[in-house]
Amino acid sequence: MKDMLREIRKQYLFSALDENNVLPNPFDQFELWLQEAIESEQLEPTAMILSTVDKHLQPHSRVVLLKELTPDSFVFYTNYEGHKAQQMEFNKRVSLVFFWASLERQVRIEGTVEKISEVLSTSYFKSRPIENQLGAWASPQSQLIRSKDFLEQQFQYYKQKFGNDIPKPPHWGGYAVKPVSIEFWQGRPNRLHDRLLFTKEAGIWGISRLAP
Ligand SMILES: Cc1cc2nc3c(=O)[nH]c(=O)nc-3n(C[C@H](O)[C@H](O)[C@H](O)COP(=O)(O)O)c2cc1C
Repeated sequence: MKDMLREIRKQYLFSALDENNVLPNPFDQFELWLQEAIESEQLEPTAMILSTVDKHLQPHSRVVLLKELTPDSFVFYTNYEGHKAQQMEFNKRVSLVFFWASLERQVRIEGTVEKISEVLSTSYFKSRPIENQLGAWASPQSQLIRSKDFLEQQFQYYKQKFGNDIPKPPHWGGYAVKPVSIEFWQGRPNRLHDRLLFTKEAGIWGISRLAP
């Protein structure tokens, strides 16, 4: 295994990213790359790694799904009582990473997070399949549970309780990550990758290039 890991190595030849072909607004550039990721039919193109920091300054990372891109934020949905929610309560600074392997691309986002409105969360909740809606009631996210059966029992309990009209749980909803920086990374031959960093100052996005 040790030798195998050392030998896994890929040349990145797919594309390039230059100051004169990147869009001036990073949200437009992100949307373009996301669209290409969706069209490239790779698994879970909207998956992003969310990192948060707890009160002991320990970072935690996990995957969540991007559900909305607004003109100034990246929105995901989760349980408001789980570990990540507690961590975001303690520290609103978070990061997001997208990795689209087949396109040899990474996007890194740093910023602050805030809850979205109950109205928006409810609107999205109602658009989810009924099983997913019940799942949000059934799972006390991040808590220890005694067995797998417990989840199934909870699921059946809420199914009987609500029938087909399931309200949004008060402990479930969306967060919007508002970036202060967004970095686009495109793999290039010989490890001389392109890295374009957008940073926001006084409300205006500026671009700079970083060494790979
Ligand atoms: C592909 C994928 C998508 C996921 N999407 C979400 C999501 O949108 N929201 C969410 O709360 N958890 C999602 N999860 C589960 C999280 O990674 C994590 O296990 C869960 O949110 C609990 O994290 P926490 O204990 O740090 O709060 C996803 C996991 C995977 C692998």
